[in-house]
Amino acid sequence: MTDKSACIIGASGGIGSALAALLPARGYGRIHAGMRSPRTVAGPGFRPFAIDLCDTASIETAAADIAAAGPLDLLVVATGVLHREPDIRPERSLKQIERDAMETVFSINTIGPALVARYFLPLLARDRRAVAVFLSARVGSIADNRLGGWHSYRASKAALNALVRGFAIEARARNGQSVVAALHPGTVDTGLSKPFQRGVRAGQLFTASQSARHLLDVADRLGPDDSGGFFAWDGSVMPF
Ligand SMILES: NC(=O)c1ccc[n+]([C@@H]2O[C@H](COP(=O)([O-])OP(=O)(O)OC[C@H]3O[C@@H](n4cnc5c(N)ncnc54)[C@H](OP(=O)(O)O)[C@@H]3O)[C@@H](O)[C@H]2O)c1
Repeated sequence: MTDKSACIIGASGGIGSALAALLPARGYGRIHAGMRSPRTVAGPGFRPFAIDLCDTASIETAAADIAAAGPLDLLVVATGVLHREPDIRPERSLKQIERDAMETVFSINTIGPALVARYFLPLLARDRRAVAVFLSARVGSIADNRLGGWHSYRASKAALNALVRGFAIEARARNGQSVVAALHPGTVDTGLSKPFQRGVRAGQLFTASQSARHLLDVADRLGPDDSGGFFAWDGSVMPF
C-alpha cells in the first residue's frame, strides 16, 4: 500500500532525513519534505518544500500548498537546535544565560513547532487514524532533571511537551482517531549531538537510521489513548 501521505519538517536534519528515507518502504507514496533550503530528495514520492520555523509566513504558505495535495496520515516535526556557531551553546550554569540565545532556542524548538501545529495539524486526515509527532528530548523532562544546565534547551523542550498535550486535546475534537505526541529519539549521532557525545556509553549512541526506525515503530504503535503523551524511542512513557 503506497497511498499514505506524510510530511517531515526538518527533512535535511540527521534524524529527519533518516525518517524520510524509511517512509517509502512503509507505504507512504507522497512524502512532503520540509527544509530551510529545499533540495531534491532521491526516491519515489518526495516533494521538497521550503519552510523556516522562524518565519511564520513560510509556515503558513507551506501548509496551504500541502493542503492542496490532500490530507496527511503522518506529520513529523524533526527540527531543533541545541548549539549553533557562534551564538548558541548550551549553558553550563545560569551565569551563561543570554537573552538573544535563549530567544532563538525557544523560537526554533518551541514557537516554531507551535506554529507548525497551528497550520499543519488541520491537514491531518479526519476520517481515519492520523499521527503527528514532535521530536522532543529526554532532557526536557522536568521530573528527570538531576544534572541541571542546558537551561534554554531543556526549558524549550519542556514547553514543547506542554504544548503537545494541549494540541492533542484539540486534535481529538477534530478526529477521535488522532494521535499527537512528543518523542525522545535517544542519543543519536547527528550534528546536534556531535560536541556532546564523549560521555555517551558505547551501545547507547544510535545511528540516525536506527533512531528513525524506532521512532516510526513507536508512531505506528501509539493509539488515541496515548495522545498528548511523551514517549521514548522504545515506546516507554517519559515523565513530564
Ligand atoms: N541527536 C540527538 O542525540 C537528539 C537527542 C534528543 C533529541 N533530539 C531532537 O531530535 C530533533 C532532530 O535532531 P537531529 O539530531 O536530527 O539534529 P540536526 O541533524 O541538527 O537537525 C536539525 C534540523 O532542524 C532544522 N532546523 C533548525 N533550525 C530551523 C529553522 N529555523 N527552520 C527550519 N528548520 C530548522 C535543521 O535545518 P538545516 O539543515 O537547514 O539547519 C535540521 O533539518 C531535534 O528536535 C532534537 O532536539 C536529538
